[in-house]
Amino acid sequence: MNFTSSRLSTVKPSASVAVSQLSRDLKAQGKDIIDLGIGQPDFDTPPHIVEAAHQAALAGKTRYTPMRGTAELCDAICNKLKRDNGLEHTADEVIVSNGAKQIIFSAMLATLNPGDEVLICAPYFGCYRDIVLSVGGNPKTIECKPEDDFRLTPESLSQAISSKTRWLMLNLPNNPSGAVYDEAQLKAIGAVLEKHPQIILLSDEIYEHILFDDRQFVSSANALPHLKNRILTVNGVSKAYAMTGWRIGYGAGPKALIDVMIKVQSQVSSAPCSIAQAAATQALNGPQDTVNQFREAFERRRNLVVEGINKIPGFTLKAPGGAFYAYVGCQALIGTTTPKGEMINSDNDLASYLIHEAGVATVPGSAYELSPYIRLSTANSDENLSAAMERMGTAVALLTR
Ligand SMILES: Cc1ncc(COP(=O)(O)O)c(C=O)c1O
Repeated sequence: MNFTSSRLSTVKPSASVAVSQLSRDLKAQGKDIIDLGIGQPDFDTPPHIVEAAHQAALAGKTRYTPMRGTAELCDAICNKLKRDNGLEHTADEVIVSNGAKQIIFSAMLATLNPGDEVLICAPYFGCYRDIVLSVGGNPKTIECKPEDDFRLTPESLSQAISSKTRWLMLNLPNNPSGAVYDEAQLKAIGAVLEKHPQIILLSDEIYEHILFDDRQFVSSANALPHLKNRILTVNGVSKAYAMTGWRIGYGAGPKALIDVMIKVQSQVSSAPCSIAQAAATQALNGPQDTVNQFREAFERRRNLVVEGINKIPGFTLKAPGGAFYAYVGCQALIGTTTPKGEMINSDNDLASYLIHEAGVATVPGSAYELSPYIRLSTANSDENLSAAMERMGTAVALLTR
């Protein structure tokens, strides 16, 4: 019996989750695998945040919360948006969900009609496409080229827009490319959007704090205040506070959009876990020192990876400006042959060769719709990253033409 709806038939499971599952399976078979697949900080959640959760549970904060999230957390989000991003939002313009992923899902389900298009900048976080497909929308990819540092250009945006375009999704800094946008670049994109009042901008800023080389983060809604009534800012505590398992993300935008997203949430999950919300409140309101400590560690690892990767003939990598990934070009290795006589025809083949022969798990660029690349997560220990590069160097040197 086929249980899959036609809407879900083209939706793929997350590629990085699949790679991590394969890593776990190979490890269970006794193989020594370094997993650079999944994108999550390898740090523990800071103790003051864990303590806040503990206290909340002991204090009986164990019941359903308001559908949009607790008043304390919504206030903390409004304060954070003002403090870090210069954005003015009231609590009724905020929603808290089970991770940024659910925010994106609710936004799409709440607003898309069949045939509506969503513009997605490749390479992109794979879920964007699959979330749009899940709700019956039409994802339309815009290729962001390495010569533009993987940034969306106003020209390619203009060309991609049609009368059916409903959303543009931007991710700053970008997973997987690390692309970042300065104020002028955002304003240039805003100038195109101004001509198309039907388009809503989703600005996924979940990596805002992981920014390198003294860059200052600019939020889309800050660069484009005149478009504020059609910008949904998406963020969360997963990456900045090492809280991926707590599942707290949030959105801030026009009240009418947030209201319809709350309607979706009320039928899907209700508000997220009350204890995780208390922890997230402490994360946003409490001391912020760990945010910078994590950032510094990610910058050191980025440097280590950029140096190591560029020593491997066949790989290319320009230093990413933010996030904790390296999107490594591997064009020169396509068409080579492994010692077992297998041909490397694609980045899928290369990622498969690297996990089986070098014991290093990476995600092929095909998952992000820009090939041939492999994505490495740099959210791993310096020792593991160094060892992974050494292993990959040895394995790549065995490929012949
Ligand atoms: C660009 C981007 N947005 C959103 C998410 C989802 O974050 P959350 O854990 O808050 O659902 C991720 C997670 O990898 C991501 O890379």
